[in-house]
Amino acid sequence: MKRRKIVNIIQGIQTSDGAGVSLTRIIGSPELNMLDPFLLLDEFGSDDPNDYMAGFPPHPHRGFETITYMLNGKFRHKDSAGNEGYLTDGSVQWMTAGRGVIHSEMPEQTEGLARGFQLWLNLPKKLKMIDPSYADIPPESIPCVDFKEGKATIIAGTFQGVTGPGRPHTGMLYHDIHLKKNSKFELDIPQGWNTFIYVYEGNVELARTIHKGQLAVLEQYGTLCLTTGSSIAQFILVAGEPLNEPVARGGPFVMNTRAEVMQAFEDYQNGILDKI
Ligand code: FE2
Repeated sequence: MKRRKIVNIIQGIQTSDGAGVSLTRIIGSPELNMLDPFLLLDEFGSDDPNDYMAGFPPHPHRGFETITYMLNGKFRHKDSAGNEGYLTDGSVQWMTAGRGVIHSEMPEQTEGLARGFQLWLNLPKKLKMIDPSYADIPPESIPCVDFKEGKATIIAGTFQGVTGPGRPHTGMLYHDIHLKKNSKFELDIPQGWNTFIYVYEGNVELARTIHKGQLAVLEQYGTLCLTTGSSIAQFILVAGEPLNEPVARGGPFVMNTRAEVMQAFEDYQNGILDKI
């Protein structure tokens, strides 16, 4: 089968969100507004508490899922559906906002490194108004597969027969791959799925070099085949079945039409977003 080529390489932009948390926005920026079904990818990573201490005080969401993968750090989650969770090193928080939640994500550390990713996965039109749900997935529930060239942490989807604990509402996979120097990595990804890798340590070769801090969008068809050279590589590999539906975005709400986004703002202002 042919190899998936790089379509585009994106460099994230520095920004801040919440009450002033410094982060790098990689998807959801002017350069890459979305990659259907992915609406946003942020990387947060700092050992300066001033960059993350303000956290994300209560704010609403409707119409999609948020997947937070903590490489390092401790955050407390609370939401209007009554869920409370604690994210620590290597854990994943999988929140399906559905018809609406108001939640907060606040650091529970005053020093040290806080590093991780938040990915927004769109919900299809027919599922946008489902009940909100929440899963706190501790690191011991996330399988890790060792192979000759490195290891893979399986957050969602299946890798070498091992399936991750994430329960997306649409077809998607999310793996954290660590490769040794001078190694080769190949993986079959469902045909037609939008696919990206984001390198967060070292660099990888895929006809071109993808450096730390870069996201490569790959073709929708073919096999993933990449190598490392004189450095190790750590990257997230994410792929999903495109929804091919209209997207109307309004800050924390992602619906199919402008009118639905306006309704979400109205419901939030009237204090009924989480009670419908
Ligand atoms: Fe949020």
